[in-house]
Amino acid sequence: MTTPICDFVTSYALSGKVRFHMPGHKGVSIHGAEPLDITEINGAGYLYSDEGIIAESERNASMLFGTERTLYSTEGSSLSIKTMLATAVTTLKKDGERPVILAGRNAHKAFLDAAALIDFDVKWLMPGTDDKNICSCDIAPADVENALAAMPDKPIAVYVTSPDYCGNMLDIEGISRVCREYSLPLLVDNAHGAYLKFLSKSLHPIDLGADMCCDSAHKTLPVYTGGGYLHISRNADTRFVKNAKALMSMFASTSPSYIIMQSLDLCNALLSTTFPTELEEAVSRVNTVKNEITEMGYALGGDEPMKITILPGSFGYTGDELAEHLRENDIECEYSDPFALVLMPSVYNSEDDYDRLLFALSLLNKRRAIESELPALPEPVVAMSIRQAAFSLSRRVNVDDAKGLICGRTAVCCQPSIPLAVSGELITDEIIKILKRYSIFEIVVL
Ligand SMILES: Cc1ncc(COP(=O)(O)O)c(C=O)c1O
Repeated sequence: MTTPICDFVTSYALSGKVRFHMPGHKGVSIHGAEPLDITEINGAGYLYSDEGIIAESERNASMLFGTERTLYSTEGSSLSIKTMLATAVTTLKKDGERPVILAGRNAHKAFLDAAALIDFDVKWLMPGTDDKNICSCDIAPADVENALAAMPDKPIAVYVTSPDYCGNMLDIEGISRVCREYSLPLLVDNAHGAYLKFLSKSLHPIDLGADMCCDSAHKTLPVYTGGGYLHISRNADTRFVKNAKALMSMFASTSPSYIIMQSLDLCNALLSTTFPTELEEAVSRVNTVKNEITEMGYALGGDEPMKITILPGSFGYTGDELAEHLRENDIECEYSDPFALVLMPSVYNSEDDYDRLLFALSLLNKRRAIESELPALPEPVVAMSIRQAAFSLSRRVNVDDAKGLICGRTAVCCQPSIPLAVSGELITDEIIKILKRYSIFEIVVL
Protein backbone atom coordinates (compact mmCIF):
# COMPACT_ATOMS: atom_id res chain seq x y z
CA MET A 1 0.00 0.00 0.00
CA THR A 2 1.38 3.43 -0.93
CA THR A 3 2.07 6.13 1.66
CA PRO A 4 1.97 9.28 -0.51
CA ILE A 5 1.77 11.83 2.30
CA CYS A 6 4.67 10.35 4.27
CA ASP A 7 6.76 10.01 1.10
CA PHE A 8 6.18 13.62 0.10
CA VAL A 9 6.91 15.09 3.54
CA THR A 10 9.98 12.94 4.16
CA SER A 11 11.42 13.89 0.82
CA TYR A 12 10.67 17.58 1.47
CA ALA A 13 12.27 17.40 4.94
CA LEU A 14 15.42 15.87 3.43
CA SER A 15 15.55 18.28 0.48
CA GLY A 16 17.08 21.15 2.43
CA LYS A 17 14.66 23.63 0.83
CA VAL A 18 14.51 27.07 2.42
CA ARG A 19 11.15 27.40 4.18
CA PHE A 20 9.68 30.86 3.67
CA HIS A 21 6.24 29.46 4.44
CA MET A 22 4.22 28.55 7.52
CA PRO A 23 4.67 27.18 10.19
CA GLY A 24 6.93 29.53 12.12
CA HIS A 25 9.32 26.86 13.34
CA LYS A 26 10.69 26.49 9.75
CA GLY A 27 11.35 22.80 10.28
CA VAL A 28 13.94 23.48 12.98
CA SER A 29 13.81 20.66 15.50
CA ILE A 30 12.77 22.31 18.77
CA HIS A 31 10.24 19.84 20.09
CA GLY A 32 11.27 17.09 17.70
CA ALA A 33 8.55 16.72 15.08
CA GLU A 34 9.06 20.09 13.33
CA PRO A 35 10.95 18.85 10.23
CA LEU A 36 7.88 16.77 9.31
CA ASP A 37 5.35 19.46 10.19
CA ILE A 38 4.48 21.28 6.98
CA THR A 39 1.52 23.11 5.55
CA GLU A 40 -0.19 23.12 2.14
CA ILE A 41 2.90 23.91 0.08
CA ASN A 42 3.20 23.13 -3.62
CA GLY A 43 2.57 19.39 -4.13
CA ALA A 44 1.34 18.74 -0.58
CA GLY A 45 -2.33 18.63 -1.57
CA TYR A 46 -5.30 20.11 0.26
CA LEU A 47 -7.45 18.15 2.70
CA TYR A 48 -10.71 19.35 1.21
CA SER A 49 -9.80 18.62 -2.40
CA ASP A 50 -10.52 15.49 -4.43
CA GLU A 51 -7.07 15.45 -5.96
CA GLY A 52 -3.46 15.26 -4.76
CA ILE A 53 -1.57 13.15 -2.24
CA ILE A 54 -4.13 13.49 0.58
CA ALA A 55 -6.98 12.36 -1.67
CA GLU A 56 -4.78 9.46 -2.83
CA SER A 57 -4.13 8.42 0.76
CA GLU A 58 -7.84 8.73 1.55
CA ARG A 59 -8.56 6.39 -1.38
CA ASN A 60 -6.21 3.85 0.22
CA ALA A 61 -8.17 4.11 3.48
CA SER A 62 -11.43 3.81 1.56
CA MET A 63 -10.19 0.59 -0.04
CA LEU A 64 -9.17 -0.83 3.35
CA PHE A 65 -12.51 0.02 4.96
CA GLY A 66 -14.53 -1.06 1.91
CA THR A 67 -16.35 2.26 1.62
CA GLU A 68 -17.57 4.40 -1.23
CA ARG A 69 -15.59 7.22 0.30
CA THR A 70 -13.47 7.74 3.40
CA LEU A 71 -12.55 11.28 4.43
CA TYR A 72 -9.73 12.08 6.83
CA SER A 73 -10.33 14.27 9.83
CA THR A 74 -7.49 15.86 11.73
CA GLU A 75 -9.96 16.98 14.41
CA GLY A 76 -11.15 13.58 15.51
CA SER A 77 -14.62 12.15 15.36
CA SER A 78 -15.91 15.47 16.67
CA LEU A 79 -15.37 16.95 13.20
CA SER A 80 -16.62 13.80 11.43
CA ILE A 81 -19.82 13.82 13.48
CA LYS A 82 -20.63 17.43 12.58
CA THR A 83 -19.84 16.69 8.93
CA MET A 84 -21.94 13.51 8.91
CA LEU A 85 -24.97 15.33 10.34
CA ALA A 86 -24.54 18.37 8.09
CA THR A 87 -24.32 16.01 5.12
CA ALA A 88 -27.49 14.14 6.09
CA VAL A 89 -29.44 17.31 6.90
CA THR A 90 -28.30 19.28 3.84
CA THR A 91 -29.05 16.38 1.52
CA LEU A 92 -32.36 15.23 2.98
CA LYS A 93 -34.01 18.30 4.55
CA LYS A 94 -37.41 19.11 3.11
CA ASP A 95 -38.43 22.69 2.38
CA GLY A 96 -40.51 24.25 5.15
CA GLU A 97 -39.97 21.37 7.61
CA ARG A 98 -37.69 21.34 10.62
CA PRO A 99 -35.26 18.44 10.30
CA VAL A 100 -35.47 15.88 13.10
CA ILE A 101 -32.94 13.16 13.92
CA LEU A 102 -33.95 10.11 15.97
CA ALA A 103 -30.96 9.56 18.25
CA GLY A 104 -29.77 7.54 21.23
CA ARG A 105 -29.52 9.75 24.31
CA ASN A 106 -25.92 8.67 25.01
CA ALA A 107 -24.78 10.80 22.05
CA HIS A 108 -21.42 12.52 22.38
CA LYS A 109 -21.26 16.30 22.89
CA ALA A 110 -20.25 16.72 19.21
CA PHE A 111 -23.77 15.58 18.24
CA LEU A 112 -25.32 18.34 20.39
CA ASP A 113 -22.89 20.90 18.99
CA ALA A 114 -23.96 19.77 15.53
CA ALA A 115 -27.63 20.21 16.47
CA ALA A 116 -26.92 23.78 17.60
CA LEU A 117 -24.77 24.67 14.58
CA ILE A 118 -26.86 23.00 11.88
CA ASP A 119 -30.19 23.60 13.63
CA PHE A 120 -32.01 20.29 13.75
CA ASP A 121 -34.31 18.89 16.42
CA VAL A 122 -33.74 15.59 18.19
CA LYS A 123 -36.22 12.89 19.12
CA TRP A 124 -34.41 10.92 21.80
CA LEU A 125 -34.29 7.17 22.20
CA MET A 126 -33.97 7.03 25.98
CA PRO A 127 -32.02 4.40 27.94
CA GLY A 128 -33.99 1.74 29.78
CA THR A 129 -34.40 2.06 33.54
CA ASP A 130 -31.63 -0.54 34.05
CA ASP A 131 -29.11 1.67 32.26
CA LYS A 132 -27.76 3.56 35.26
CA ASN A 133 -24.60 4.61 33.53
CA ILE A 134 -24.90 7.65 31.28
CA CYS A 135 -22.54 6.04 28.76
CA SER A 136 -24.98 3.32 27.79
CA CYS A 137 -28.29 3.32 25.97
CA ASP A 138 -29.38 -0.19 25.14
CA ILE A 139 -31.25 0.43 21.88
CA ALA A 140 -32.65 -2.70 20.18
CA PRO A 141 -33.96 -2.76 16.60
CA ALA A 142 -37.49 -3.04 18.05
CA ASP A 143 -36.96 0.22 19.99
CA VAL A 144 -36.09 2.01 16.75
CA GLU A 145 -39.04 0.38 14.99
CA ASN A 146 -41.47 1.41 17.77
CA ALA A 147 -40.14 4.95 17.90
CA LEU A 148 -40.39 5.38 14.13
CA ALA A 149 -43.88 3.89 14.03
CA ALA A 150 -45.00 6.36 16.71
CA MET A 151 -43.60 9.45 14.93
CA PRO A 152 -46.24 11.10 12.71
CA ASP A 153 -43.50 13.02 10.87
CA LYS A 154 -40.56 10.82 10.07
CA PRO A 155 -37.04 11.90 11.02
CA ILE A 156 -34.46 12.39 8.31
CA ALA A 157 -32.02 9.90 9.85
CA VAL A 158 -31.38 7.58 12.78
CA TYR A 159 -28.22 8.16 14.85
CA VAL A 160 -26.76 5.74 17.37
CA THR A 161 -23.50 5.30 19.27
CA SER A 162 -21.87 1.88 19.06
CA PRO A 163 -19.60 0.88 20.71
CA ASP A 164 -20.26 3.24 23.60
CA TYR A 165 -17.62 4.43 26.04
CA CYS A 166 -18.21 1.38 28.26
CA GLY A 167 -17.86 -1.12 25.42
CA ASN A 168 -21.54 -1.92 24.80
CA MET A 169 -22.29 -2.71 21.18
CA LEU A 170 -25.69 -2.35 19.54
CA ASP A 171 -27.26 -4.66 16.98
CA ILE A 172 -26.28 -2.40 14.08
CA GLU A 173 -27.30 -5.01 11.53
CA GLY A 174 -30.83 -5.20 13.01
CA ILE A 175 -31.13 -1.42 13.41
CA SER A 176 -29.97 -0.86 9.82
CA ARG A 177 -32.64 -3.32 8.62
CA VAL A 178 -35.32 -1.22 10.37
CA CYS A 179 -33.86 1.97 8.89
CA ARG A 180 -34.00 0.46 5.41
CA GLU A 181 -37.67 -0.48 5.89
CA TYR A 182 -38.34 3.20 6.59
CA SER A 183 -35.94 4.39 3.86
CA LEU A 184 -33.89 6.26 6.42
CA PRO A 185 -30.10 6.46 6.59
CA LEU A 186 -28.41 5.02 9.66
CA LEU A 187 -25.60 7.19 11.03
CA VAL A 188 -23.30 5.61 13.60
CA ASP A 189 -20.89 7.15 16.06
CA ASN A 190 -18.21 4.46 15.85
CA ALA A 191 -15.55 6.66 17.47
CA HIS A 192 -14.42 3.72 19.61
CA GLY A 193 -14.55 1.09 16.87
CA ALA A 194 -12.16 1.80 13.98
CA TYR A 195 -10.38 -1.50 14.72
CA LEU A 196 -13.63 -3.49 14.39
CA LYS A 197 -13.05 -3.59 10.63
CA PHE A 198 -9.88 -5.64 11.10
CA LEU A 199 -11.24 -8.43 13.31
CA SER A 200 -11.28 -11.86 11.65
CA LYS A 201 -15.00 -11.18 11.10
CA SER A 202 -15.59 -7.47 10.66
CA LEU A 203 -17.95 -5.83 13.16
CA HIS A 204 -17.50 -2.42 11.60
CA PRO A 205 -20.79 -0.46 11.25
CA ILE A 206 -20.30 0.07 7.50
CA ASP A 207 -20.16 -3.72 7.03
CA LEU A 208 -23.28 -4.09 9.19
CA GLY A 209 -25.43 -1.71 7.16
CA ALA A 210 -24.68 1.82 8.38
CA ASP A 211 -24.82 4.54 5.71
CA MET A 212 -22.21 6.76 7.34
CA CYS A 213 -20.07 6.48 10.43
CA CYS A 214 -17.24 8.27 12.15
CA ASP A 215 -14.18 6.48 13.54
CA SER A 216 -11.61 8.06 15.85
CA ALA A 217 -8.59 6.38 14.29
CA HIS A 218 -6.54 7.68 17.21
CA LYS A 219 -8.61 5.86 19.83
CA THR A 220 -7.84 2.30 18.76
CA LEU A 221 -5.35 2.40 15.85
CA PRO A 222 -1.70 3.54 15.78
CA VAL A 223 -2.59 7.14 14.85
CA TYR A 224 -1.76 10.45 16.55
CA THR A 225 -4.45 12.10 18.66
CA GLY A 226 -6.90 13.93 16.40
CA GLY A 227 -6.73 11.50 13.47
CA GLY A 228 -10.13 10.23 12.38
CA TYR A 229 -12.32 9.12 9.50
CA LEU A 230 -15.72 9.82 8.09
CA HIS A 231 -16.85 6.74 6.16
CA ILE A 232 -19.62 6.78 3.57
CA SER A 233 -21.04 3.41 2.55
CA ARG A 234 -21.31 2.15 -1.02
CA ASN A 235 -25.05 1.72 -0.30
CA ALA A 236 -25.59 5.28 0.93
CA ASP A 237 -27.38 8.07 -0.91
CA THR A 238 -24.93 9.07 -3.67
CA ARG A 239 -25.40 12.75 -2.81
CA PHE A 240 -23.63 12.20 0.54
CA VAL A 241 -20.29 11.75 -1.23
CA LYS A 242 -20.87 14.88 -3.31
CA ASN A 243 -21.65 17.07 -0.28
CA ALA A 244 -19.44 15.77 2.53
CA LYS A 245 -16.02 17.32 1.82
CA ALA A 246 -17.27 20.84 1.26
CA LEU A 247 -19.36 20.60 4.43
CA MET A 248 -16.42 19.27 6.45
CA SER A 249 -14.38 22.29 5.43
CA MET A 250 -17.03 24.57 6.97
CA PHE A 251 -16.44 23.15 10.46
CA ALA A 252 -12.71 22.49 10.25
CA SER A 253 -9.48 24.45 10.42
CA THR A 254 -7.94 25.50 7.10
CA SER A 255 -4.61 24.34 8.56
CA PRO A 256 -5.03 20.59 9.08
CA SER A 257 -2.08 18.90 10.77
CA TYR A 258 0.26 17.14 8.35
CA ILE A 259 1.74 15.25 11.29
CA ILE A 260 -1.69 13.69 11.91
CA MET A 261 -2.24 13.07 8.19
CA GLN A 262 1.11 11.29 7.90
CA SER A 263 0.09 9.12 10.79
CA LEU A 264 -3.21 8.24 9.05
CA ASP A 265 -1.26 7.58 5.86
CA LEU A 266 1.24 5.27 7.54
CA CYS A 267 -1.56 3.52 9.38
CA ASN A 268 -2.93 2.38 6.00
CA ALA A 269 0.31 0.49 5.39
CA LEU A 270 0.02 -1.25 8.77
CA LEU A 271 -3.67 -2.05 8.32
CA SER A 272 -2.92 -3.69 5.00
CA THR A 273 -0.10 -5.84 6.41
CA THR A 274 0.65 -6.71 10.04
CA PHE A 275 -2.23 -5.14 11.98
CA PRO A 276 -4.99 -7.75 11.49
CA THR A 277 -2.81 -10.61 12.77
CA GLU A 278 -1.58 -8.54 15.71
CA LEU A 279 -5.16 -7.61 16.48
CA GLU A 280 -6.27 -11.23 16.51
CA GLU A 281 -3.54 -12.03 19.04
CA ALA A 282 -4.45 -8.99 21.16
CA VAL A 283 -8.15 -9.91 21.18
CA SER A 284 -7.27 -13.37 22.42
CA ARG A 285 -4.98 -11.91 25.14
CA VAL A 286 -7.63 -9.44 26.27
CA ASN A 287 -10.14 -12.26 26.43
CA THR A 288 -7.88 -14.23 28.77
CA VAL A 289 -7.33 -11.14 30.91
CA LYS A 290 -11.09 -10.59 31.14
CA ASN A 291 -11.54 -14.21 32.33
CA GLU A 292 -8.84 -13.76 34.95
CA ILE A 293 -10.45 -10.54 36.22
CA THR A 294 -13.82 -12.29 36.45
CA GLU A 295 -12.23 -15.18 38.37
CA MET A 296 -10.98 -12.63 40.95
CA GLY A 297 -14.64 -11.78 41.59
CA TYR A 298 -15.04 -8.54 39.64
CA ALA A 299 -18.05 -8.06 37.37
CA LEU A 300 -17.41 -6.94 33.79
CA GLY A 301 -19.64 -5.00 31.43
CA GLY A 302 -19.75 -4.46 27.69
CA ASP A 303 -19.11 -6.85 24.84
CA GLU A 304 -16.53 -4.99 22.78
CA PRO A 305 -13.54 -7.29 22.14
CA MET A 306 -10.81 -4.73 22.91
CA LYS A 307 -12.27 -2.96 25.92
CA ILE A 308 -12.20 -4.04 29.55
CA THR A 309 -15.02 -2.45 31.54
CA ILE A 310 -15.01 -3.32 35.22
CA LEU A 311 -18.22 -2.72 37.19
CA PRO A 312 -16.68 -2.75 40.64
CA GLY A 313 -19.86 -2.03 42.65
CA SER A 314 -20.46 -5.69 43.45
CA PHE A 315 -16.80 -5.94 44.59
CA GLY A 316 -17.42 -3.03 46.97
CA TYR A 317 -15.69 -0.17 45.14
CA THR A 318 -16.69 2.73 42.96
CA GLY A 319 -15.08 3.02 39.54
CA ASP A 320 -13.26 6.14 40.75
CA GLU A 321 -11.86 4.32 43.81
CA LEU A 322 -10.60 1.52 41.58
CA ALA A 323 -9.03 4.06 39.20
CA GLU A 324 -7.20 5.64 42.15
CA HIS A 325 -5.95 2.23 43.29
CA LEU A 326 -4.61 1.51 39.80
CA ARG A 327 -3.01 4.95 39.70
CA GLU A 328 -1.18 4.17 42.95
CA ASN A 329 0.17 1.12 41.08
CA ASP A 330 1.32 3.26 38.13
CA ILE A 331 -1.54 2.25 35.86
CA GLU A 332 -3.70 4.90 34.22
CA CYS A 333 -7.14 3.86 33.02
CA GLU A 334 -9.15 5.42 30.18
CA TYR A 335 -12.19 6.40 32.21
CA SER A 336 -13.85 5.97 35.57
CA ASP A 337 -17.05 7.14 37.19
CA PRO A 338 -19.04 6.02 40.23
CA PHE A 339 -20.12 2.82 38.47
CA ALA A 340 -17.50 1.77 35.95
CA LEU A 341 -13.82 1.70 35.14
CA VAL A 342 -12.80 1.45 31.50
CA LEU A 343 -9.47 0.14 30.23
CA MET A 344 -8.60 0.43 26.54
CA PRO A 345 -5.85 -1.97 25.55
CA SER A 346 -4.54 -2.11 22.00
CA VAL A 347 -2.18 -4.27 19.99
CA TYR A 348 0.65 -2.19 21.43
CA ASN A 349 0.15 -3.17 25.09
CA SER A 350 2.84 -5.57 26.27
CA GLU A 351 2.55 -8.81 28.23
CA ASP A 352 4.07 -6.93 31.17
CA ASP A 353 1.26 -4.33 31.02
CA TYR A 354 -1.38 -7.06 31.45
CA ASP A 355 0.59 -8.76 34.25
CA ARG A 356 0.85 -5.49 36.15
CA LEU A 357 -2.86 -4.82 35.72
CA LEU A 358 -3.84 -8.26 37.00
CA PHE A 359 -1.41 -7.96 39.92
CA ALA A 360 -2.81 -4.56 40.92
CA LEU A 361 -6.39 -5.85 40.78
CA SER A 362 -5.45 -8.88 42.86
CA LEU A 363 -4.27 -6.61 45.70
CA LEU A 364 -7.78 -5.46 46.60
CA ASN A 365 -10.02 -7.33 49.01
CA LYS A 366 -13.68 -7.76 48.22
CA ARG A 367 -15.93 -5.49 50.31
CA ARG A 368 -19.66 -5.17 50.83
CA ALA A 369 -21.39 -4.48 47.53
CA ILE A 370 -22.30 -0.86 46.73
CA GLU A 371 -25.85 -0.32 45.47
CA SER A 372 -26.38 2.30 42.78
CA GLU A 373 -28.73 5.02 43.98
CA LEU A 374 -28.82 7.00 40.72
CA PRO A 375 -32.19 7.51 39.05
CA ALA A 376 -32.42 6.61 35.36
CA LEU A 377 -32.30 9.62 33.02
CA PRO A 378 -35.85 11.00 32.86
CA GLU A 379 -37.67 11.73 29.60
CA PRO A 380 -36.62 15.33 28.81
CA VAL A 381 -39.05 18.24 28.81
CA VAL A 382 -38.15 20.43 25.83
CA ALA A 383 -38.81 24.15 26.21
CA MET A 384 -37.03 25.42 23.07
CA SER A 385 -34.76 24.23 20.28
CA ILE A 386 -31.17 23.25 21.01
CA ARG A 387 -29.90 26.01 18.74
CA GLN A 388 -32.08 28.71 20.26
CA ALA A 389 -30.99 27.82 23.80
CA ALA A 390 -27.33 27.28 22.93
CA PHE A 391 -27.01 30.71 21.29
CA SER A 392 -29.13 32.69 23.80
CA LEU A 393 -27.74 34.99 26.46
CA SER A 394 -27.19 32.77 29.47
CA ARG A 395 -25.84 32.75 33.01
CA ARG A 396 -24.11 30.21 35.24
CA VAL A 397 -25.89 29.15 38.43
CA ASN A 398 -25.42 26.60 41.17
CA VAL A 399 -27.30 23.44 40.12
CA ASP A 400 -29.40 23.64 43.29
CA ASP A 401 -30.81 26.95 42.01
CA ALA A 402 -31.54 25.63 38.51
CA LYS A 403 -34.82 23.80 39.12
CA GLY A 404 -37.48 24.85 36.61
CA LEU A 405 -35.01 26.86 34.50
CA ILE A 406 -34.07 26.13 30.88
CA CYS A 407 -30.67 24.59 30.25
CA GLY A 408 -28.61 27.04 28.18
CA ARG A 409 -25.50 25.10 27.35
CA THR A 410 -25.56 21.30 27.24
CA ALA A 411 -24.08 19.97 30.49
CA VAL A 412 -21.52 17.21 30.12
CA CYS A 413 -18.66 15.96 32.26
CA CYS A 414 -15.29 16.26 30.50
CA GLN A 415 -15.26 12.53 29.95
CA PRO A 416 -17.28 10.86 28.50
CA SER A 417 -18.81 14.13 27.18
CA ILE A 418 -22.31 12.65 27.18
CA PRO A 419 -25.14 15.09 27.94
CA LEU A 420 -26.80 15.05 31.35
CA ALA A 421 -28.91 18.09 30.48
CA VAL A 422 -29.34 19.33 26.92
CA SER A 423 -29.69 22.96 25.76
CA GLY A 424 -33.36 23.90 25.67
CA GLU A 425 -34.52 21.30 28.23
CA LEU A 426 -36.10 22.08 31.61
CA ILE A 427 -33.95 21.31 34.65
CA THR A 428 -35.80 19.02 37.05
CA ASP A 429 -35.02 17.60 40.52
CA GLU A 430 -33.95 14.28 38.98
CA ILE A 431 -31.56 16.01 36.58
CA ILE A 432 -30.06 18.02 39.45
CA LYS A 433 -29.44 14.79 41.38
CA ILE A 434 -27.73 13.20 38.38
CA LEU A 435 -25.61 16.30 37.69
CA LYS A 436 -24.34 16.30 41.28
CA ARG A 437 -23.61 12.58 41.17
CA TYR A 438 -21.32 13.29 38.20
CA SER A 439 -19.71 16.19 40.12
CA ILE A 440 -21.31 18.95 38.05
CA PHE A 441 -22.20 21.69 40.55
CA GLU A 442 -22.81 24.62 38.21
CA ILE A 443 -24.89 24.82 35.04
CA VAL A 444 -25.53 27.41 32.35
CA VAL A 445 -29.19 28.42 32.23
CA LEU A 446 -31.35 31.01 30.47
C1 LIG B 1 -18.58 8.07 21.76
C2 LIG B 1 -17.69 9.18 21.31
N1 LIG B 1 -17.99 9.85 20.19
C3 LIG B 1 -17.22 10.86 19.73
C4 LIG B 1 -16.10 11.24 20.42
C5 LIG B 1 -15.26 12.37 19.88
O1 LIG B 1 -14.09 11.82 19.36
P1 LIG B 1 -12.77 12.67 19.09
O2 LIG B 1 -12.11 12.83 20.41
O3 LIG B 1 -12.00 11.80 18.16
O4 LIG B 1 -13.16 13.95 18.50
C6 LIG B 1 -15.75 10.58 21.60
C7 LIG B 1 -14.55 10.99 22.36
O5 LIG B 1 -14.17 10.47 23.33
C8 LIG B 1 -16.56 9.52 22.07
O6 LIG B 1 -16.27 8.86 23.19
